[in-house]
Amino acid sequence: MIQFQRKKNKMKQIILDCDPGQDDAVALALAMAATDEIELLGVTTVAGNVPLNLTQRNARIMCEMCNRPDIKVYAGAEKPMIHDLVTAEHVHGKSGLDGIDIYEPNHPLEEKHAVDYIIETCLASENDNIILVPTGPLTNIGLAIEREPAILLKIKEIVLMGGALREGGNITPSAEFNIYVDPEAAQIVLKCGRPIVAMSLDVTHQVLTTRKRVDTIRNLNSSVGEHIASLIEFYERYDEEKYHFDGAPLHDPCTVAYLLKPELFSLKDVNMEVETGGEFTRGATVVDFWDVTDRLPNVKWAYEVDDVGFFELLNEYLEKL
Ligand code: RIB
Ligand code: CA
Repeated sequence: MIQFQRKKNKMKQIILDCDPGQDDAVALALAMAATDEIELLGVTTVAGNVPLNLTQRNARIMCEMCNRPDIKVYAGAEKPMIHDLVTAEHVHGKSGLDGIDIYEPNHPLEEKHAVDYIIETCLASENDNIILVPTGPLTNIGLAIEREPAILLKIKEIVLMGGALREGGNITPSAEFNIYVDPEAAQIVLKCGRPIVAMSLDVTHQVLTTRKRVDTIRNLNSSVGEHIASLIEFYERYDEEKYHFDGAPLHDPCTVAYLLKPELFSLKDVNMEVETGGEFTRGATVVDFWDVTDRLPNVKWAYEVDDVGFFELLNEYLEKL
């Protein structure tokens, strides 16, 4: 019993907040494969790539694909805090998980609202070890912090996918999708005072799903290899056409990979603000990478990654499924 407790104490307790989306799906698979390192307390879903009724369903499909009936899935915000919802079917397809057969999963959706779940789980925690891992718009996280700031005492860190500096925007010329959809929620998170690690486009654009890498995933000794490869093959066509990349950036799994092997990433303490009112710049992340202002650092900004090591890690864990 003591040994089990020791092992449990070393595990990272995370809540993964997502908007699946094929790249969210790979992040979910990676987290669900890492049963020795990650205690996935719950999966909360938010409207983003596709509407909430689809993101919550897609998260439940991934729990079945990864054979994790123990994982509880919660539905959260149907729209951003202020703005109307902006979705990304042009990237992810109408279902949000185009590339595999879509069906209504038996895996249940929890009754409780995701924001209530996040608040109650944090307040009930006996320590401050909860790690929030948002890979979609930050609406659920922003609402939880605004409604119950006391949860911040229980949050060890927030490891998010969002923002861009050098890479520019991917939904507008100046904004990355997750931040653009709900800049007010992003502002609440950026000002919350807890440690934040930002996996922005600046680093995710270095993690490309080349043909060789997708073939390797397909041929893994894994029950999910074929499905993950097919999801990526659908998802990558958009970015290949837009950026003329060999493959697409695997954005969201960078968050979970950081938790499993932080040494893959180069980080810099920076000040990161978000534009909420600009006519052309809504959702732009203003990152003071060269310390030209006196604004205090509030984020560890990932700017480089060992992409070979990333895919070695991803393959190692996908083979556990
Ligand atoms: O800009 C990329 C991000 O937006 C990823 O999280 C992708 O899933 C979409 O949510
Ligand atoms: Ca996402």
